[in-house]
Amino acid sequence: MRLIAHRGASGTHPENTMAAFRAAWDAGVRAIEFDVQRAKDGALVVVHDNELKRTSGDSRAVRELTLAELQGLDAGGWFDARFRGERIPTLEELADAAPADCELQLEIKQAEPPYAGIERAVKAFLDARPAVKARTVVSSFHHDTLRALRELDSAVRIGLLPGRMPLEPAFALAAELGAESIHVNLERLSADWTARARAAGVKLLAYTILTEEHVRRAAELGADGVFSNFPHFKVPA
Ligand code: G3P
Ligand code: MG
Repeated sequence: MRLIAHRGASGTHPENTMAAFRAAWDAGVRAIEFDVQRAKDGALVVVHDNELKRTSGDSRAVRELTLAELQGLDAGGWFDARFRGERIPTLEELADAAPADCELQLEIKQAEPPYAGIERAVKAFLDARPAVKARTVVSSFHHDTLRALRELDSAVRIGLLPGRMPLEPAFALAAELGAESIHVNLERLSADWTARARAAGVKLLAYTILTEEHVRRAAELGADGVFSNFPHFKVPA
């Protein structure tokens, strides 16, 4: 079973910051998950919430600020004073810093209204970096985003976040998208999902793993991988 560092080592470091990703790499993990949104000036940035309040203390939304404005915010102090000065990374900065053997689970975090054209921007980013593209899986809860991406690019690797969708429609959508993996909440994971995934030739990944007990449950149910905030957790081979 594979461990993917969810928002980096976000259990011990401020999520989606370079400090969190470096901690995951230092722990020997070679797969990271992160959330991508678009700044006012089009820059692709790594941040989870559509609003900046929780992790940067600003009352505005990500889309209202330019990259320079976003990078003027402190994205680490909310977690612990010793991380004060951590910035919201750009997708480029993160991809450049990642070890050459690190899988990138790039989640497009859509907003309301959606970031129109973000699929094209992500595709252009990946097309300019073939080696990065080869080890990147793009996922989203926003299924029209995944459909648009697939329409633009028959080769890009896609993972489906089904959210609350029932099992059969989720597998039908995964087939439509040519998704290589389905990423389900651990609370929804059951042997039905993993058996169905095996039959479909699709990987089943579970989030969010916060305890060793979660690791055991995911392993027992036959998950292929887990998104964990704690990259030092031992997972069975
Ligand atoms: O990609 C798995 C997980 O990251 C989805 O939920 O809210 O943590 O982005 P969230
Ligand atoms: Mg995510």
